[in-house]
Formats: sequence, structure tokens, C-alpha cells
Amino acid sequence: MANKLFIPGPTEVRKEILDEMTHPQIGHRTQEFKELFASLRPGLKKVFHTENDVLISTSSGSGFWEACIRNCVNKKVLHAVNGSFSKKWADVSKRCSREVEKIDYEWGKAVKAEDIDKALSEGDYEAFCMVHNETSTGVASDLEPIAKVMKKYPEVLWFVDAVSSLAGMKIEVDRLGIDICLASSQKALALPAGIAVASISEKAYKKAETVEGRGYYFDLLELKKMYDKDQTPYTPSIPHLYALKKQLERIEEEGLENRYKRHKEMAAYVRDWAKDNGFEMFSEQGYESDTVSCMKNTKKLDFKAMKKDLAAKGYSIDSGYGKLNENLEKEGKPTTFRIAHMGDLTLDEVKEVTAELEKYF
Ligand SMILES: Cc1ncc(COP(=O)(O)O)c(C=O)c1O
Repeated sequence: MANKLFIPGPTEVRKEILDEMTHPQIGHRTQEFKELFASLRPGLKKVFHTENDVLISTSSGSGFWEACIRNCVNKKVLHAVNGSFSKKWADVSKRCSREVEKIDYEWGKAVKAEDIDKALSEGDYEAFCMVHNETSTGVASDLEPIAKVMKKYPEVLWFVDAVSSLAGMKIEVDRLGIDICLASSQKALALPAGIAVASISEKAYKKAETVEGRGYYFDLLELKKMYDKDQTPYTPSIPHLYALKKQLERIEEEGLENRYKRHKEMAAYVRDWAKDNGFEMFSEQGYESDTVSCMKNTKKLDFKAMKKDLAAKGYSIDSGYGKLNENLEKEGKPTTFRIAHMGDLTLDEVKEVTAELEKYF
């Protein structure tokens, strides 16, 4: 029997979704494939709250990090860094040989509109990259004020990593004006790892036309050309597409607003539970994520041992983000632990795991 996953990705995948992955294979140049591919469009657009194309890549979310940079930045890009994943994305831009400037935050803090405004007013950036939901610290930055700032700089593209928030927290791509919003399958979408999705604005495609050396696999213009024919440039993971189709139907059945509400309820429950049990949140107050809660391990619980013990009982838990805990330990500060409540998990399931945790103190 597999363990139930309370880690912040990969998340628990329902059996009916897993079953879809065993669908007999079909050729990717057939009419049947085209129909499957086209059927995903409306549901994906709803999840992103957009009329933009939503491209699908057979890669994890990091593939689209690279796509943003290699397609839409000739020279200089601004990154907000407030945790491990935003730091990695800035590193990816460097590895793509782009000039990178960072707005650095203490880990646990949210990205703030005024800092972006200041940085954009002082430099000639082509794009601004940020992580909406820093999975490493449980922080969700507020996109509303940031969107207002981005509207002051229409020549700057806005890229948002929504890897661990899309389909768990509402991100209105069109209303906010996000040029590329990207996510992985294995987080709040509650699918197996292996594909990534991204909404792409017309502005982003236009910019790509000006960029040389876009490569092939993540060339947005190549993907777009085939997307318009209900195709992909190369063989995609067809099993994932069947699973995605089923999951989009399930999301439609639940209703997106209900899905967001369920995530809010699970998050509020975990925060209350933490407070009632003497734990402090690690994430900045007012910016706590709805999909993953990050707490300070003020009781000095031995999460390594608990992890093993709970695994034997059928629960996979998380003992905090490795690098963050290492740094906190060095500074003599309490380390962190996270409870993920994303995807298809229910409040009852989250209560199950908190009840298990309570047995250790
Ligand atoms: C916020 C965030 N961005 C990016 C990534 C990397 O995603 P992937 O492993 O799908 O490439 C992760 C993975 O946990 C993440 O949490």
C-alpha cells in the first residue's frame, strides 16, 4: 500500500486519475490525439482564468522557467528572490547567460510591490520573474499590488511561477496581466509528475520573435505553431494528457471557487492547529500560503525519526526544506516543518495527519 502524501509535491493522486494513465497508447499524429489535445483547452483556460494559449510541455515546471528566459529575454532580467525556488530560477537565468539583477528578501518574507516598482524604475529590464507561492517557506505573495506596478511598465514582461499554487489558489492571469504563468502537474493540480502547463500572452510571443537562440524543445513559437493545429512539436506524454483531461473534468465538477475554498479551509485549519499547539508560523503574517503551511519547529521535534515512523504508518510527511533548515540551524534558530494541503486532499485527511503528529508531543 502506497503512503498518503502530505508533502508539498508530488501530491496525492486519486486512483481514478492514475487509472487514466493506463489508457491504450495512440499515435500523436492521429485525429484521436488532436481531439484529446483540443479537449484540454477550455478546462486549462479556466484554471488560469485566461483567454491566452495554455501550452503543455513534457517536462516538469522548471522547463518553463528556462522557456521564459530563452524565449523572452535578450539581455537583462529582474528576479525577486524570497526562497529556494525563486533563487533557483534566478540561477537558471544566469545559466542561460542573461544579465540577472535580484531583489533579495529574507526567506519567509513575501515579494512586495514597492520593491519591484523601485527596481524597475532604476533599470532597463525586459522581464520580471517571481514565484507566487514559495513552496520552501510557505509564503504566497500578493499579486494584486504587484499587478498594479507591472501596469506602469508595459515594456516589461511579467513571469509568474505558480507551480505550487495553480488550481489551489485563484490566479486571474488576464485580469492581472501576467505574460507567462507556469505550473507543474504534480502540485495543486494533483496529477503525476511529468508535464507542465503555462499560459502565454501575445506580448510574450511577440517578444520571442525578437530573440535569437530560442533552442528547440522549449521554443514557444514552435510550440504555438503546433498548438494551433492541436498538436505538439514532438511526442508528448500521452498518458499524462488522459490524466489531465479527467482531472480537468473533476475540477469542473468540484467548481474552481469550491476548490479554492477547500484549500483556504485546510490552510486555516493547519494555522489554527499550529497556534493551538504552540507552533509559530515561519511565513510572514498575512502572506501564508493556502497550499502549504510552514511552521517553526519550536518544540524541537525529531522530524527525521518521525518521518520514518509515520512512513511505516502510511503517511509521508515533510521535515522542512533542506537548505532552509541547514541555514537556520547554523544561525541557531528553530528549523521548520511543512504540512502540505494541496491538490485533492480534504480537510478530514489533513486532520488525520495532524492527529498523528500530535502523538509526538
Ligand atoms: C515554487 C516552485 N517552483 C518550481 C519548482 C520546480 O518544479 P519542477 O520540479 O516541477 O521542475 C518547484 C518544485 O517544488 C516549486 O515548488
